[in-house]
Amino acid sequence: MAVLTPTGYPKARRISFRFDQPESADRKYFVDGDMVFSHFVAGLSGSFPPGEESFIRSVRRIADRITDPTLKKRIAGFVGQEATHGNEHRKLNEKLVELGYPIGWLDTEDQLRRMLRIEGAVSEMVHLAMTAAAEHYTAVLAERVLTSDEIQSIPAEPEFWNLLNWHAMEELEHKSVAFDAFRAAGGTEGTRIAVMAAMYAITLPLTYGALAVSLARDPIARRRPLRVAREAYSLFRGPIFRGLLPQLAQYMRPGFHPDDIDTDQLLSHWQTELFGENGVLVDHLK
Ligand SMILES: [Fe+2]
Ligand SMILES: [Fe+2]
Repeated sequence: MAVLTPTGYPKARRISFRFDQPESADRKYFVDGDMVFSHFVAGLSGSFPPGEESFIRSVRRIADRITDPTLKKRIAGFVGQEATHGNEHRKLNEKLVELGYPIGWLDTEDQLRRMLRIEGAVSEMVHLAMTAAAEHYTAVLAERVLTSDEIQSIPAEPEFWNLLNWHAMEELEHKSVAFDAFRAAGGTEGTRIAVMAAMYAITLPLTYGALAVSLARDPIARRRPLRVAREAYSLFRGPIFRGLLPQLAQYMRPGFHPDDIDTDQLLSHWQTELFGENGVLVDHLK
């Protein structure tokens, strides 16, 4: 269990990012001037607030079955962190919608109704298994983002990096909470692995499809097909995707637990880097 916060539990920090600053995310292709990479990141950021709210609903559905006081506190920390992630990503997302990224539809009342219908159609254990699997995705991506110098050196707006590093760090802090809640509520290995297998099967088609739709709605991208092809090749051969699928697949091993992947040292490093005495995000805390 990753419990390196001073309280011993994942803790929702009261934090605020400032995307209203003139220099923040005012360049359309805000990740390295790269069209495809920027669309990919915008899509990811657009999907976080509604996705994270679904994660919160999934743990609330089984909350009354959790009796262990430690796990209850960890769940409270998880809920607080995910709610804050959603709120802060919404600020970036507003900016991204202004810049022309077609992500606004992901976070509408209509979309929420659709998500609630899907959640209502599956059992609470399947819903929670979807969250636990999604948390493995975010933990794997977070570890990559926080470990790779190649990723950290990608030029982007400083406030964008601040948001991403903070989010990645907290994803590692709570990476096993939904998993442990699933187990404590009686979730079986069969359900856990079957749900991940289904999600795994659609990962690449969904990523390619969403990215293609996003790019197709960008008039500049439509005029530059060769650039799009070149940048797409670089993205899928680059440090985000290289070797990603085998790492995601580790979750399907029977007996797997998120803490089998030791990220404690990495987490400790970033907790000091961002929120230690001279941490770069101390001035962002409210
Ligand atoms: Fe999150
Ligand atoms: Fe998370």
